[in-house]
Amino acid sequence: MSNSKPSFPPADQMEILISSGQIAERVRELGKQITADYRGHSIVLIGVLKGAAIFLADIARAIEVDNTFDFVAVSSYGRALVSSGAVKLIKDIDNPIEGKHVILVEDILDTGLTLSYLRGLMLQHKPSSLKIATCLDKPERRLVPIEADYVAFKIPNKFVIGYGMDYAERYRGVRDIRLFPEEATGH
Ligand code: IMP
Repeated sequence: MSNSKPSFPPADQMEILISSGQIAERVRELGKQITADYRGHSIVLIGVLKGAAIFLADIARAIEVDNTFDFVAVSSYGRALVSSGAVKLIKDIDNPIEGKHVILVEDILDTGLTLSYLRGLMLQHKPSSLKIATCLDKPERRLVPIEADYVAFKIPNKFVIGYGMDYAERYRGVRDIRLFPEEATGH
């Protein structure tokens, strides 16, 4: 069919926004920073499934203080249309975090709805401290005031895939962070 556009173009045809080499270097830097900030303590890294899984795996290995993992999963209802309460927890943490030093690990801080919801929820568990690490930050898109303590890269308001991030569940395993072509989203 000559006039139909593929919905899932091959990743290697998409422009690289951040290369795997740049990611690796920045993850090393963040790892050093987190190590310095938490020296002498242990940390619980809580990843937000599924997008943060790869960033969490890399960050965990870049940190030289003891760390354990946990994961949460959320679903969102029409994020673009709803301005609050748009997020629902579908998987909670497995182990108590009371009195622990916790870092919530996210792939992208976008509108902020997901992380402000999760931060509120995690604070109810009374951790000793709670910080946020995000691979990407899209400050232009914020609907609620929230900032991450550790940001690997600030990016403009573009849709990206790769390094854990998906479009319709595809492309998570792509090594670089690439710009998903807008024409393929049908918007
Ligand atoms: P928000 O901060 O609540 O808007 O949610 C951020 C979530 O939206 C991220 O964890 C991603 O799952 C998703 N997201 C936002 N922008 C992108 C993108 O450019 N590519 C892939 N997922 C995205």
